Amino acid sequence: FKVPTPINEPVKSYAPNSPEKKELKAMLAKMKSEVVDIPMYIGSERVYTEQKVRISPPHEHQHTLGYFNMGDSLHVEQAVRASLGAKYAWANLSWEHRASIFLKAADLIATKYRAKMNAATMLGQSKNVYQAEIDSACEIIDFLRFNVYFMTEIYSQQVISSSGIWNRIEQRPLEGFVFAITPFNFTAIGGNLPTAPALMGNTVVWKPAFTQIYSAQVFMEVLIEAGLPDGVINLIYTEGPDAGDVIFNHPDFAGLHFTGSTGVFQHLWKTIGNNIHKYKSYPRIVGETGGKDFVIAHKSADAKALATALVRGAFEYQGQKCSAASRAYIPANLWEEVKNYLVEDLKSIKMGSPEDFSNFVNAVIDERAFDKITKYIDEAKKARGVELIAGGNYDKSVGYFIEPTVFRVDDNQFVTMCEEIFGPVLTIYVYQPELFEEVLEMADMTSPYALTGSIFAQDRYAIELASKKLLHSAGNFYINDKPTGAVVGQQPFGGGRASGTNDKAGAMYNLLRWVSTRTIKETF
Ligand code: NAD
Ligand code: ALA
Repeated sequence: FKVPTPINEPVKSYAPNSPEKKELKAMLAKMKSEVVDIPMYIGSERVYTEQKVRISPPHEHQHTLGYFNMGDSLHVEQAVRASLGAKYAWANLSWEHRASIFLKAADLIATKYRAKMNAATMLGQSKNVYQAEIDSACEIIDFLRFNVYFMTEIYSQQVISSSGIWNRIEQRPLEGFVFAITPFNFTAIGGNLPTAPALMGNTVVWKPAFTQIYSAQVFMEVLIEAGLPDGVINLIYTEGPDAGDVIFNHPDFAGLHFTGSTGVFQHLWKTIGNNIHKYKSYPRIVGETGGKDFVIAHKSADAKALATALVRGAFEYQGQKCSAASRAYIPANLWEEVKNYLVEDLKSIKMGSPEDFSNFVNAVIDERAFDKITKYIDEAKKARGVELIAGGNYDKSVGYFIEPTVFRVDDNQFVTMCEEIFGPVLTIYVYQPELFEEVLEMADMTSPYALTGSIFAQDRYAIELASKKLLHSAGNFYINDKPTGAVVGQQPFGGGRASGTNDKAGAMYNLLRWVSTRTIKETF
């Protein structure tokens, strides 16, 4: 009973005078003129509280888009109760009916809510139109459609029977509720993390990052219009510890679906470990976390392709992708050429509000991120053996703007080569071409992360050597391409080591974590 393999949602161009551009411009103006009051969604209730928290565009922080209603531990308890209350009926609904709700949600985004999803992501998270389109339209639609396909692959798995014996496997939802925690940087992650466990028959408490709430609410409304029953996904806004204190002490806590920083994930894992005796079942823990993603060029690489990949890989969405290229190893024979391309490309890039579609670079997410990133830039500017190649300026008077910044370092262990900055900063180490193998080893050991990485080379032996030496250095490994932009159904996404449990978002592997298999043997 497999469903046909879906086709990835085509990316719209937003060319001048295109209907999609006109519609999106009108939606941006409309949403900008409104002040919305965003409730939590618990069971059948839209919940408003006394504590309203202002939401503003990162590129224009004096403007008010609306307020969200902050919850506390009592709301978390209500959300857990609502998810447990909805569980029996949802788990017993046939898979076709569960699937059709998420397929309808995908169609609604594709046809009716595309402009609203994109406008919310552009205003709330400061993404340019193309970055919004591939995230809050295409990727979220792909997650919803492909997950249904992967679900049917799982449900159609068979085991061998013999004469007199009929063996079966049954994929049960987990016994309890799942907690989904999402980061600010991808609306599509907010789309995937709560819906993947729900598709497999689980009910969910979902806590997004505060800076993602503006787009998360639009998606929640889409799910409701698509027919999602009350209590299946409960959307709450609380401080992390308020949610954690309730959820990680609850006997029915059955799984954590997390994307965010390594530090937070490790803290949550320890908390779960400390409470392990309280749970009915060992919880499933799935986490996609930080990255310090590399680009390594061999002396045979194409300099122009490499420079383009560095600009796009490092600076799309201001480098706020877990997959962003943030350290590069370039052989001396290519350096001058790559440097010239980089400097020229970066000169032509415009920075400003995403509401002007010609701006490639927009603002970083908030003041905390701005201060953290600019501290790295200031320290690098002052350090010995560090050359500023491009950018380095910033300004937070109107929005949190930081120029795409490139450093070249003498010390391959310099702090910006090793730590996740999560902003528009690329650090380059130039090496002698004959030391390629040593550079591969160095790149492998320089950071604890293993999310994405690229090798650029024309020489097949070099590509093969890199692929072998970097076996565990990246969960997503690219050959002659930037290390960002994985497509659902084509490049299952996720990393190992400190980058996560590598359960591959947008793949059957991930969905398998949200079922508990029962084996049945019947003897005739
Ligand atoms: P973050 O870790 O600050 O926050 C992530 C989520 O965790 C938020 O919803 C936050 O409110 C919540 N949280 C924080 N402390 C908590 C606690 N004690 N209890 C419960 N929840 C808590 O991350 P962010 O700044 O939103 O996102 C950026 C990070 O996410 C980067 O490190 C990036 O690499 C990572 N990321 C990884 C992937 C991936 O697929 N590997 C994808 C996107 C982002
Ligand atoms: N999945 C996103 C990418 O590949 C993070 O860039």
